[in-house]
This record gives sequence, structure tokens and C-alpha cells, in this order.
Amino acid sequence: MPFKQNNDDSVTLTHPSGSSAKVLLYGATVISWEVEGKERLFLSSKAKLDGTKAVRGGIPLVFPVFGKATEGPAAALPQHGFARTSTWELLGIKNDNDDVVAVQFGLEVENIDLEAQKQWPYKFGLIYTVELGKDTLKNTMEIRNDADAEDFDFQILFHSYLAVGDVSDVEVKGLEKVDYRDKTQGGKVLTQAAESEARLDITSETDRLYVAPSGTSTTVLEKDQAVVEVQRQNLKDVVVWNPWEKAPQNMGDFGPEDGWKRMICVEAGSVAEWHKLKKGDSWTGSQVLKALL
Ligand code: BG6
Repeated sequence: MPFKQNNDDSVTLTHPSGSSAKVLLYGATVISWEVEGKERLFLSSKAKLDGTKAVRGGIPLVFPVFGKATEGPAAALPQHGFARTSTWELLGIKNDNDDVVAVQFGLEVENIDLEAQKQWPYKFGLIYTVELGKDTLKNTMEIRNDADAEDFDFQILFHSYLAVGDVSDVEVKGLEKVDYRDKTQGGKVLTQAAESEARLDITSETDRLYVAPSGTSTTVLEKDQAVVEVQRQNLKDVVVWNPWEKAPQNMGDFGPEDGWKRMICVEAGSVAEWHKLKKGDSWTGSQVLKALL
């Protein structure tokens, strides 16, 4: 069966090739993506899967703000917004053929808690499509402004925790010569070219927002072998995050102790600026994760 609803408020997609994905209704968080019997996403062993906290791992959805806004209409919202901490509605299966199995989830004002409605009082509608192929996982977000009167600004990001063997062996390709904001340096703008890096090596805490790379693909390599590719469609920016050894000790939901070695977040989004969505308009953007090994 290509699509199954589980008792734990999750759904499982299965492709004829054997690949599979599991999505929680909480946050519409993809918590597993398996290709050729191998798990491709990192999920913390201490992740809360009971709806009490955003999931530490998988693909949490960041909307309508990336990080914590210090001013403007999103300033009252918690870090990364409410999409990852709201329970989404299962809209059903969109496609089921030999190429892809696709399932859709929806979130509207009525589905978010009253506090979030007060913190961000706009009339929005989100449709999230998860499409599983033989060796691909496509995540598409459609955002509607359902208001009669008011425009709103948003940011959006797919916070993908990719599984790796050892992050010290990892390099990220496709972000060369792209300006980035280094969040470990208080968001200072640095230029990749100035560092003359051919590729990004992960050798310490890394938290960078690469602003509008001209290419649309970022590749994670391990010991020089391409492991996974992250393609962007109508998503301008890329965030690369690994907390390294110390920060996870204060997170409370990051495990096992050396779990930070087993992950790298390569996050496709539009987060360097705000998108204005006019009343009645909609916007769509996607990422495609492709397993290469
Ligand atoms: C990344 C941010 O996207 O998410 C980091 O760039 C942040 O700054 C990380 O620490 C995890 O955020 P959270 O809220 O899930 O702990």
C-alpha cells in the first residue's frame, strides 16, 4: 500500500522501489526518509514526538519567521514560527503512480493555537505536499493570503537534518563565492570568496545563512563522495547548521551525546529577506532531496 495512516498520528508513504517516508501530523514533520534500506534523515534519540516540542530532527517546517524576529509583525512569535509546532490536517493522497507517491497536508488560521493567532493575526492557508520518488523526496509549500484586506510578510524554510556518518568528513558544495551571514559571529556578513574556500568544510560550530546563491543545487559530500543533493525551486537561500559538541548539551532534546556528529542541516528557504504576499495571492516553493549514494 503506497500510503498508510498510523495510530500515532503519522502517515507512511511507500514507493514501489521500496523507498519510504514517515510524516507526523504534528508540524507536518517528515521524521524518516529511507532509500535502499538506509535512513537519510537524522532524528535525535531524545526528540519529542508527542506534540510537546518541535521535533529535533527530520524536516521541521519554518514559517512565517526564520529564527527570532526582533522587530516587525513577527516579533511576538517564537523562534522559527508556529508551523513546526502546530498539528496539520491530512488532506489526503495527491498522486500514486509508478514514479511518485504524494500526500498533502493543510494548515489554516483555525488550526493554530489562539496564542499564535494573536501573535500573528493574518488570514493564511498552507498546503504542504510530500512527494516520494525512488531516490527523491520533494517538499512543496503553497502559501495563500486569504485576507480581503491585509498583505503579510513571511519567511519559509525546510529545516532538513541530513544524516551523515561523521560530520568531520563532510563538505558542502555549491555555495562557493556566496555571501553569507555568520550567526556564530552575530550575523556578520562575510564573503565566501574572501576565505578562498573551494568547498565548505565542517570543522566547528557552523551556522550560516548563504544569501541567494546563483546555483540552485547544494551537495553534501562525505569522504569526497556525493551523498545527497538539495535542489531549490523558487527558494533563494541556503542555511547550513551544525551545532558541534557544546550547544547540544544545553538543548535537552539532542541525543545521543555524539549525535551532532551524525547530522548536518542543509536548509533550503527564503529567509534573508521578507516576502510580501498580497491579499488574495499565493506563493509556491519546493526543495528536492536526492539520495546519491
Ligand atoms: C538553524 C538556525 O536553522 O536552526 C540556528 O540557523 C538554530 O541558529 C537552529 O540554532 C536550531 O533551532 P531550534 O530552534 O530548532 O533549536
